[in-house]
Amino acid sequence: MAVPLALLLLLVVLRAATADAGAGAATTVAYNDRALVINGERRILISGSIHYPRSTPEMWPDLIKKAKEGGLDAIETYVFWNGHEPRPRQYNFEGNYDIVRFFKEIQNAGMYAILRIGPYICGEWNYGGLPAWLRDIPGMQFRLHNEPFEREMENFTTLIVNKMKDANMFAGQGGPIILAQIENEYGNIMGKLNNNESASQYIHWCADMANKQNIGVPWIMCQQDDDVPPHVINTCNGFYCHDWFPNRTDIPKIWTENWTGWFKAWDKPDFHRSAEDIAFAVAMFFQKRGSLQNYYMYHGGTNFGRTSGGPYITTSYDYDAPLDEYGNIRQPKYGHLKNLHSVIKSMEKILVHGEYNDTSYGKNITVTKFTFDGSSACFINNQFDDRDINVTLGGATHLIPAWSVSILPDCKTVAFNSAKIKTQTSVMVKKPNTVEKEPEGLKWSWMPENLQLFMTDERGSFKKNELLEQISTGTDQSDYLWYRTSLEHKGEASYTLYVNTTGHEIYAFVNGKLVGQNHSANGEFVFQLESPVSLHSGKNYISLLSGTVGLKNYGALFELMPAGIAGGPVKLIGTNGTGGIDLTNSSWTYMSGLAGEYRQIHLDKPEYRWQSHNGSIPVNRPFTWYKATFDAPAGEEAVVVDLLGLGKGAAWVNGNSLGRYWPSYTASEMPGCHVCDYRGKFKAEGDGIRCLTGCGEPSQRYYHVPRAFLRPAQPNTLVLFEEAGSDPTRAAFRTVAAGAVCAAAAEPGDDVTLSCGRHGRAISSVDVASFGVSRGSCGAYEGGCESKAALRAFTAACVGKEACTVRYTAAFAGAGCESGVLTVQATC
Ligand code: GAL
Repeated sequence: MAVPLALLLLLVVLRAATADAGAGAATTVAYNDRALVINGERRILISGSIHYPRSTPEMWPDLIKKAKEGGLDAIETYVFWNGHEPRPRQYNFEGNYDIVRFFKEIQNAGMYAILRIGPYICGEWNYGGLPAWLRDIPGMQFRLHNEPFEREMENFTTLIVNKMKDANMFAGQGGPIILAQIENEYGNIMGKLNNNESASQYIHWCADMANKQNIGVPWIMCQQDDDVPPHVINTCNGFYCHDWFPNRTDIPKIWTENWTGWFKAWDKPDFHRSAEDIAFAVAMFFQKRGSLQNYYMYHGGTNFGRTSGGPYITTSYDYDAPLDEYGNIRQPKYGHLKNLHSVIKSMEKILVHGEYNDTSYGKNITVTKFTFDGSSACFINNQFDDRDINVTLGGATHLIPAWSVSILPDCKTVAFNSAKIKTQTSVMVKKPNTVEKEPEGLKWSWMPENLQLFMTDERGSFKKNELLEQISTGTDQSDYLWYRTSLEHKGEASYTLYVNTTGHEIYAFVNGKLVGQNHSANGEFVFQLESPVSLHSGKNYISLLSGTVGLKNYGALFELMPAGIAGGPVKLIGTNGTGGIDLTNSSWTYMSGLAGEYRQIHLDKPEYRWQSHNGSIPVNRPFTWYKATFDAPAGEEAVVVDLLGLGKGAAWVNGNSLGRYWPSYTASEMPGCHVCDYRGKFKAEGDGIRCLTGCGEPSQRYYHVPRAFLRPAQPNTLVLFEEAGSDPTRAAFRTVAAGAVCAAAAEPGDDVTLSCGRHGRAISSVDVASFGVSRGSCGAYEGGCESKAALRAFTAACVGKEACTVRYTAAFAGAGCESGVLTVQATC
């Protein structure tokens, strides 16, 4: 078909215009001792980590938009090597691994980006991001100076850099990337490697290799305080970084990981870091001349598939971040930090150019005054964790609550205090699926996992007269590795089957019958299985199934940590401890993965024969595949599946992995379980942990089902592989929404805003509007003096609305109530 010339010309012009708009104007990135200098301007930058594989591409624009609205300038992410290169030179940049699409979304939002290539990333990610196949390369030593590792690392780093260059993603090309990171917290392990020569050569090689990439923006290294190679900026990670300073005086103070909470493990309760404490740490950082700080995580997300590391990191990587696992705004954390960001940004010029003066006002109290261009700005901190302090500055006295920072952009008026929250609290709840009644509404069928294949001589890939290590044998293509041996026995006899294994779990079968199972405790690897067994006369089969739950991701030489029945021993111990049989060096046959994994049962292909006897299915049956069909919950709210009642296994919706599940694993009771006080140093380990929730409860009961996995108009399929044996029939789909929302206002004139979120849910009632509420927390406030006038005003303005703002007026007092802090609680 002939295209008219005029149309052709128009198309050419349009193409050129789009290309220009896409590329954007080139941005220069330099730095000095005070700040990153972008396009010639010194900048204060607030950034947040969002890891692209931990959500879906459909979620990215909304997450990034919420980050921008929360006052962030930049999004930071690691790059996930083993996700991108699952087998040597076979690459995956599809779906939630479409890294270029993620960076383009950041660019579309008009934000900057920080590219932390690693490619060792730690990150509670399987093997710290390193592909397990690296182990097969002769001479390979991870993260040390050796040709095989450096060759592979350079190959992957170059690949990522080139992908970003091809897409014009670096600042100098008009893209969003202003910083890039090589390696990750190498300084932490250099000491443990006795700062050996190979470690030092390696970290210098990393810097040289990175600098050779010619990306036009600075390279950073985090937690690299000694032996910092030239031409890189070293940065800080931690809960607090105000007392940390970089190794050179010509580089700015950058905080790459401000941990907004902590990751969760299958046996641990949920960690909560308060909004007050994070705000305290951020304010302290900028008081002490910080220039860029990044929240790790701003959105934690989900470990889909087999991506969690640890081992024993849960599928949820919620992290107690300002955006929750599902992408909802977590209040008051999000709003309180947003308020802080706007105050800090309003002082940008003075913070990066001003002269500064720290004055001690006695123990634990410091006032910092910045002056520039005839104006001044002040911070007052109180580092006592038990004492509020009055500080007099320029004639005015300010009460600084314990463990808090007040910011006075003009040194006179307090614009922000880190301990005073002026934003609402939302209590998120799981609401029943309104489309169909569950669990009754789910229709179940099942299929057995075919274990028989490995109970006799039928299958196996190879044999060896020793017990092999699991990761190198199966190259981590599956959680499971079978070990099988057989022995001739004269007559019948009873024994104890003894297996010593390096983790993470084991199931033992003798002559096709499950005789025992066990798993290692979190944080430990080596454990034993001891099960009574009976042998018959003739040939007996012993089949052992070893399972991993995510490979170790941290520590010096972490890759040397074995998994599986490496070396055993495996023995049959005679009844009175005598007459045993050592099977350690018997002929063992191996097979990686389960039959159902090879058949891809999770894809629910039409040829599969799911069984259902009048709707009933077997329960408490180990190694069983289950399937249920369901209708997608209506609306836009995030969807979860409640797997209470299940044991351990993996779940899929319409063929998409939801990750491993393990609701039968209960979170331990810990000293920090029932107490919460934001005052004092937050910790995630050792003594003094606080603010834990979910103690004694299933460590993860709800599993995120991203909306993108669901088909709105057709039936959807949930497939479960249950290895331990349980009852799936209580499983149910829920949506996540605000239940109660609460806010407090200190004095007349303050505006009180309440919001149910953005998905069309409205406030149904205002339940509390009282002065001096003394007990309970949002959702269950008690005490105080009810203000009928306030209740009327809030009810009139809020009921039926998604959000409302009401001004606290003097008229709310009276009728026997003394005015004071007004607390309002509403139900969404
Ligand atoms: C840091 C590490 C991150 C992450 C974090 C804990 O040490 O750099 O990747 O593991 O700890 O969440």
